Amino acid sequence: MGKFYIDGGKRLEGTLRVQGGKNAVLPILAATVLNGHISYIHDCPQILDVLTMISILERIGCNVKWEGKTLIVDSSTVSSYEVPEDLVREMRSSIILLGSVLGRYKKVVISYPGGCPLGPRPIDLHLKALRQLGVQIKEEHGFIICEASKLTGAKIHLDFPSVGATENIMLTAALAEGTTVIYNAAKEPEIKDLQDFLNGMGAKISGASTDVIYIEGVKKLGKVEHKVIPDRIVAGTYLTAAAITGGKIELTNVEPNHIQAVTSKLREIGCTIIEKENRVFLKAPQQLRSVDIVRTQPYPGFPTDMQAQMMALLTVASGTSIITETVFESRFKHAEELMRMGADITIEGRTAIVKGVNALTGTTVHAKDLRGGAALIIAGLVAQGSTIVKGAKHIERGYEEIDKELQLLGANIRKID
Ligand code: UD1
Repeated sequence: MGKFYIDGGKRLEGTLRVQGGKNAVLPILAATVLNGHISYIHDCPQILDVLTMISILERIGCNVKWEGKTLIVDSSTVSSYEVPEDLVREMRSSIILLGSVLGRYKKVVISYPGGCPLGPRPIDLHLKALRQLGVQIKEEHGFIICEASKLTGAKIHLDFPSVGATENIMLTAALAEGTTVIYNAAKEPEIKDLQDFLNGMGAKISGASTDVIYIEGVKKLGKVEHKVIPDRIVAGTYLTAAAITGGKIELTNVEPNHIQAVTSKLREIGCTIIEKENRVFLKAPQQLRSVDIVRTQPYPGFPTDMQAQMMALLTVASGTSIITETVFESRFKHAEELMRMGADITIEGRTAIVKGVNALTGTTVHAKDLRGGAALIIAGLVAQGSTIVKGAKHIERGYEEIDKELQLLGANIRKID
């Protein structure tokens, strides 16, 4: 398995263009199944999760090809409603195909995604909503078998604004009969991007970005061309990386409004942030300051996908910070690894107490999940001596050539296979 080798102590400086959003493009790729036509997806990031999703699309019969950064998917040739089990296990978010295959064929067989390093990730909200749309669901031998003689619009209230459940409902309801209304819908920017993509192929959806979404079922969908929104978590990761090194960077292809929760924390920590249209500039202070509390929440709250990177940053801030993870049950695996580098962190249930230390020291650490892995790279950038981050594959699920991007900013990092 690949690993990253980092020599800490280099200040990051320069300009970087942020890749297209992972969590935007995955549901969009699932949605390509719906139109039975061609989809052009511009600024598609070349990351492992996208490659896994492409493999799934190919296995069910789609033709997929790259033209530079544009991915072209032809779903007119889809021949199966069974989502391959081995690939669902590899990428939990493939559960998003539930809605799109069901929307197109009124039938889908998919394996139960099971647990993941972030703790149990149930799909009860997805299944409850699908039943309301008229879907019969059987769970047998680890498989979920869904079938509907007819998909009918319904009023659905989500008990929690789940991102995946909101997306699955939009995908299933786009071709249903009648209107579906989702109350307490997720408000993440990626939901709006999915709405724009589906409307581009002829769907009638409105309300994304608010907590009520309306989906008026249509009979047919067609060809679509779409540019994916920038990845707000990748943007936040590079800003945090620059901050920990005392650096100065500018990011292009960013939507500053999408990262307010992160930039406002970075300001509290002492960074200067300047936002201009699609650019964000960050200059780190001499000394990073602790923050009273970082509480992860659904959008527009502080994103759980930035919690690990923020923790890495706070390990070297002056003073004590509290981090509370409210979205996932068990998302502190990176803390033990950071402690191996000298961080002073105490975990109590869903809360982490981070006491800033003067310096981290390089050692060998293990990336156990995507964002936790990014946090270890961030820590390695400032640690004294060399850090080896094992488990590169986890990080490559979501970051396009993170080693090369950081090298461009002056970091001493390389990947060893
Ligand atoms: C998506 C993102 C992920 C991000 C998360 C929260 C993608 C591909 N992934 O994941 O990066 O961390 O949003 O912003 O977009 N839950 C249930 N029952 C359900 C569904 C969810 O209890 O049926 C719980 C989950 O266990 C979790 C919480 O709700 O504790 C949030 O999950 P959800 O918003 O659904 O996240 P994902 O769509 O899985």
